[in-house]
Amino acid sequence: MRQLIAGNWKMNGLRADSLALARALAAGLEQPAGCDVLVCPPATVLAAVADALAGGGVMVGGQDCHPEPSGACTGDVSAPMLRDAGAGWVILGHSERRLGYGESNALVQEKARAAVAAGLTPIVCVGETEQQRLSGNAETVVAAQIDGSLPPGFAGVVAYEPVWAIGTGRTASEDDIVAMHRCIRSQLTETLGEAGAGLRILYGGSVKPAGAAALLALPGVGGALVGGASLVAADFLGIVRAAG
Ligand code: 13P
Repeated sequence: MRQLIAGNWKMNGLRADSLALARALAAGLEQPAGCDVLVCPPATVLAAVADALAGGGVMVGGQDCHPEPSGACTGDVSAPMLRDAGAGWVILGHSERRLGYGESNALVQEKARAAVAAGLTPIVCVGETEQQRLSGNAETVVAAQIDGSLPPGFAGVVAYEPVWAIGTGRTASEDDIVAMHRCIRSQLTETLGEAGAGLRILYGGSVKPAGAAALLALPGVGGALVGGASLVAADFLGIVRAAG
């Protein structure tokens, strides 16, 4: 399967910067990329970015959604709203939401169901904290996140993002990445059966253009979820090119 390079812009970008970034990506991808390319801008600029990228090779997604399609949920954005704004994808269960807002596996699973019902492809994030890795529990924690966060029949993407590698400039070692991706694959087939065998598993956490080719060539790595480097067109395009 083609690799997926996804940019998570997080809470960055006013309208003018976001449109400039989107246009720079579109211009840089005049030749079709050898991988799938996705950007996930903040909800406020999602529709504008989706319009700017329409018909090109860059897909657009949201960064979170509420489990309900509508209702008295001040400040939230629903999956049908993301779809209506031009998204085809949504990131769910990012550690910044699991840890910052106490999102449980059960809630992430509800959100994933809502995303699929709205026609979005979910990217469900998992990953251990540094403490959990140091205490030898990384694989147990991640396996439990997979088991609890994915609804039956899940046909989306899983992103492995070790919390301690996010925004720190530290990446997991190649051996650890390969071992964790193997563990995730085995949990996916246990939880989902044969369907789990073909799902893409991304790596995320301080992915930069230098080193991206080696990372993306590791067995079991189906792409990358990129934070900081996705805000700089040349860097994100460098990672896209590294994916072939
Ligand atoms: P960085 O690439 O900035 O480490 O962020 C990774 C991330 O959290 C993507 O979702």
